Amino acid sequence: MKKLIYSLCLFTLMFSIALPSNAAKKAKKVMPIETKVPVRPAGQKDVLGLTTPKMDVVRVGFIGLGMRGPGAVSRFTHLKGVEIKALCDLHPERVENCQKILQKAGLPEATGYSGSEDAWKKMCERPDIDLIYIATDWKNHAKMMIYAMEHGKHVACEVPAAMTLDEIWAVVNTAEKTQKHCMQLENCVYDFFELTTLNMAQKGVFGDILYAEGSYIHNLEEFWGEYNADWRLKYNKEHRGDIYATHGMGPACQLLDIHRGDKMNYLVAMDSEPVSIPNYIKNVRKEDSTGFKNGQHTMTMIRTEKGKTIHIQHDVASPRPYSRMYQCTGTKGFANKYPVEGYALQGSQVDASITPNHENLNAHSYVSDEIKDALMKKYKHPIHVELEETAKKVGGHGGMDFIMDYRLIYCLQNGLPLDMDVYDLAEWCCLAPLTSISLENNSAPVAVPDFTRGNWNKVKGFRHAFAK
Ligand SMILES: NC(=O)c1ccc[n+]([C@@H]2O[C@H](COP(=O)([O-])OP(=O)(O)OC[C@H]3O[C@@H](n4cnc5c(N)ncnc54)[C@H](O)[C@@H]3O)[C@@H](O)[C@H]2O)c1
Repeated sequence: MKKLIYSLCLFTLMFSIALPSNAAKKAKKVMPIETKVPVRPAGQKDVLGLTTPKMDVVRVGFIGLGMRGPGAVSRFTHLKGVEIKALCDLHPERVENCQKILQKAGLPEATGYSGSEDAWKKMCERPDIDLIYIATDWKNHAKMMIYAMEHGKHVACEVPAAMTLDEIWAVVNTAEKTQKHCMQLENCVYDFFELTTLNMAQKGVFGDILYAEGSYIHNLEEFWGEYNADWRLKYNKEHRGDIYATHGMGPACQLLDIHRGDKMNYLVAMDSEPVSIPNYIKNVRKEDSTGFKNGQHTMTMIRTEKGKTIHIQHDVASPRPYSRMYQCTGTKGFANKYPVEGYALQGSQVDASITPNHENLNAHSYVSDEIKDALMKKYKHPIHVELEETAKKVGGHGGMDFIMDYRLIYCLQNGLPLDMDVYDLAEWCCLAPLTSISLENNSAPVAVPDFTRGNWNKVKGFRHAFAK
């Protein structure tokens, strides 16, 4: 009898596993949540590969001279064919400090704009400025870029350049309407390991790249008090989601040729309960932290049209070592930056000039430091070949900031498409609003809009432009 009961139970169990329940049978395929894609206004065309007439001299105006801005002014004093025409900040003493940078470099004084929330508009209205360079808090970026483009200027804006979908679409539409360059100042795509790895990827060293990672993991506790009018902590308090995704997104999207042969289709996000920053607000600032929104750690996964995946993380709260993760996984090799910087490659991917016993190599472990150095030398990106020495001298996050500014000016001077266009800006910034939608819907998938509105496959592969 016992045996019979046991057999019956086993049969019922197996049957219930083998056959889906009615509920499961009825369950519909979950479709990503869609957001509105505005129709491209009549007569407007995309700005893919946009070029504008060559400029011998690029005349620049800076808005936002807090912690980040003065470094940019200083780097620009090292660029040839540039005139720093104007400097703007809410605080007149910050403008004065930057005038001193010009003075020290033996350059003429720039016109200062200060003292009102809207002083920057006067600067954008001037006819003798070609480029507006913005390094203010996040809420000002989109409106400043739009106003500047509407007044005939190219714009370059610090990260993240836009925070909401309305802002992103307005920036894309203005760039298309005015046919002006609109570049987000994402410096991490120029870092030495990233750009070398991109060059290796583009030469096929990693085979077909199927997965990329990136992040912004940086405990900001010692910085919270430094931002003008506390804008950054306030933004974290009021917004859930990955609100600072571009340092991870930029290098990952370049590896995967996003909107140059592939596109992101949808994402899902998950975050952990915010604890450290609310504790800091309560215990250090002695303020109320109720309703603090930004997760302690936010993870996002993205799947592309060609079936590739991207994993992005954001954590400005936990006591962790700085990391941008940066990982590239292909069918024939692997690159990783944090915490161990290295490559793992199948033997077939390393030629005899780099290692005589390359046939013994396999991708189970990182290549030796010697092979890594030889690879980095062999695949040094032409941009680094030209600029590494000067960039390291001028500085800015070890040199990558100078390379970014140099490339922006070089491309404008030579009438070339910029390294990063307005669709990169849109794609790398859209994580803020889209992850928020996913998180508020139990990590539901959310569709990533095609910001090129149909033209994501027009350009084949991401490449930097060079003058002939
Ligand atoms: N790429 C990077 O590695 C990197 C590093 C740090 C900061 N950033 C970005 O740079 C930007 C600025 O950050 P920060 O740390 O310098 O902040 P900050 O608060 O130190 O500086 C912002 C400055 O903008 C000025 N400002 C604000 N509103 C203005 C207005 N209406 N008119 C004129 N000036 C105005 C403020 O007075 C302040 O001086 C942010 O977008 C930040 O995310 C990027």
